[in-house]
Amino acid sequence: MCFVAAERGKNSFWGYIYKQGEFIVGEYPLYLRDHNWMGRPDRLVVECLSQKAACRQTMRFACWQPLFTLLLCLFLSFFLPAIGWTKIQSGQCSSCHTMHDSQNGASMKIDSTPNVAGAAECNDCHSSARSSMLRLDCLGCHAQAVDGGDNIIADAPQIAHVGTDLAAGNYHHVFVDDSYGHNIHGFGNDIVAQDSDLQNTPPGYVADYDPSTAKYQPAYSGTAPQVMCAGTNGCHGDREKISQTQAMHATHHGDDSVLKFGSLDEASQGATVATSYRFLNKVHGAEDADWQATTGPTDHNEYKGIVYADRSTQDWADIESISQLCAECHGLFHASADIGGPSSPWIRHPTDILLPNSGEYAAYTSYDLDVPVGRVSITGSTASGTVTPGTDTVLCLSCHRAHGSPFSDMLRWDYTLISAGTTGAGAGNGCFVCHSNKDGV
Ligand code: HEC
Ligand code: HEC
Ligand code: HEC
Ligand code: HEC
Ligand code: HEC
Ligand code: HEC
Repeated sequence: MCFVAAERGKNSFWGYIYKQGEFIVGEYPLYLRDHNWMGRPDRLVVECLSQKAACRQTMRFACWQPLFTLLLCLFLSFFLPAIGWTKIQSGQCSSCHTMHDSQNGASMKIDSTPNVAGAAECNDCHSSARSSMLRLDCLGCHAQAVDGGDNIIADAPQIAHVGTDLAAGNYHHVFVDDSYGHNIHGFGNDIVAQDSDLQNTPPGYVADYDPSTAKYQPAYSGTAPQVMCAGTNGCHGDREKISQTQAMHATHHGDDSVLKFGSLDEASQGATVATSYRFLNKVHGAEDADWQATTGPTDHNEYKGIVYADRSTQDWADIESISQLCAECHGLFHASADIGGPSSPWIRHPTDILLPNSGEYAAYTSYDLDVPVGRVSITGSTASGTVTPGTDTVLCLSCHRAHGSPFSDMLRWDYTLISAGTTGAGAGNGCFVCHSNKDGV
């Protein structure tokens, strides 16, 4: 007989494993490999995620005692959903944190960020003793194997890998071409340096549209000015804080159930960074549980869109939609006068407007993962496979990825294939999903 007591994480179970009363494995994060296990209560297949040698190999447990297993299943199914879903649900503190940055006299730092002289916030990463007592920096956890094959490692979404991109795209593409994405600081100049065309100035930047007090600083990070993951010069976290780790303070352990399908509560979203969509301060949305590692018509994120507002400035109190987040640095592409709003003719492509329920737009009714739309209210127990012209909105992300894509201007599709009247590979894709009468089909 085997016994698994577990607490439920998102994809993981934090398990205490016993066999015939004997404590055989210990407290280790367990990845539930067999997702049909509820339908096969005689077999629970788990993989150990810990680095510990004793726990490294895949473990298979057969629970032969049906009565006991039934009780276990009842325990899991009735008790566990009551536990609030929080971010990090597994892993020993010491995997990620160090108390003194010293063990047997040696540093506990894990990744290889070099020491550089710089401002205090640079030392968040560029020093062995890191902010929040972390052993790793953002990329240490989120780019654990640069160009490796896994898009999720030990529950952490990866941002620079080969294979299936997650929802935001993938910085691996920027290693191939500058114009395929944001040139983030931290990969090292030999992998991705500053953007050779744009340097570090966001195209369309408008200071009045950037709600942060300090404003985006193109010269930040000294000899290698590049856009950051988080903070004033990045997208994630509180942009009032220049330090990335401080900007992300109290996010990773926070309860974000208000952003999860099944417990969505839009009214409570955005109050803190932890309750903001993907830690993008103030932004609303619904988070797919595996960051879109798997996708389907009803298996995806839902993005918040707003209905066109006549606006020339942006304050923190205004931010709700994912497009407003982009506009913090690319305001010219969102502000009313600069896009020619509030209605056609536009001078720049509109976002945060309703998809008209008329003409060619009315044909877009089945959600296309390559052309997501925004929802004016975030509700439902699953993602919706339906697009409702007249109700749903155009997003920056209807055309772009947020991190990087395999195409120029980090578009979601190859713009060179989108030719008027085409019946070729571009037909029915990209622009044609909304401008449905402009292709040749
Ligand atoms: C998988 C990695 C990981 C593990 C395991 C982990 N932490 Fe953290 N922790 C982080 C990260 C990343 C931050 C920095 C971002 C933030 O403040 O949320 C953090 C921040 C914190 C903070 C400051 C912010 C807050 O939410 O209070 C505390 C305190 C903390 N961790 C305690 C712990 C303790 C105690 C454990 C073990 C029970 C633990 N952590 C396990 C990754 C981890
Ligand atoms: C914190 C500021 C900031 C935010 C927020 C931001 N960007 Fe950018 N963006 C930049 C900077 C800086 C550049 C130019 C340098 C580069 O490419 O790294 C840029 C470049 C771009 C480019 C051109 C890429 C290229 O290399 O040609 C696109 C497209 C883009 N951003 C789209 C977006 C979208 C979509 C969002 C929202 C999901 C967004 N940006 C949010 C700072 C920002
Ligand atoms: C979030 C963590 C983080 C922060 C904050 C950070 N850096 Fe870096 N930095 C890195 C990483 C990771 C690398 C790449 C190291 C490598 O090449 O292995 C890097 C590389 C560099 C390099 C080498 C050039 C390059 O790009 O390879 C310089 C110089 C540098 N950083 C300066 C700074 C300065 C100055 C600041 C503060 C203004 C700063 N960094 C803030 C993580 C950070
Ligand atoms: C010690 C490891 C560790 C470090 C350091 C770390 N993260 Fe994370 N991060 C994780 C893990 C694990 C998750 C997945 C937790 C979850 O959502 O269940 C995560 C999730 C995220 C997410 C997705 C949140 C969501 O809604 O799904 C973002 C965004 C993020 N981290 C940004 C950052 C940034 C920016 C930094 C640097 C300031 C950082 N992380 C540093 C481990 C880390
Ligand atoms: C998510 C749906 C969507 C996608 C994708 C999309 N558009 Fe649009 N587009 C719209 C909407 C909505 C309008 C505004 C219609 C209105 O105001 O009557 C518009 C307007 C336009 C206009 C006319 C502006 C005007 O003054 O009326 C042009 C030109 C245009 N889009 C080109 C493109 C191109 C090129 C692409 C691909 C790169 C594209 N669109 C992708 C929804 C979309
Ligand atoms: C209808 C599709 C569409 C939408 C919606 C859209 N973009 Fe773009 N974007 C493009 C295309 C296509 C390009 C390539 C340049 C061009 O055709 O003007 C581009 C280029 C860019 C660039 C690079 C500009 C440069 O100088 O190289 C940035 C930055 C950018 N977009 C940001 C945004 C932001 C921010 C939003 C939302 C406020 C947004 N885009 C909405 C299609 C779109």
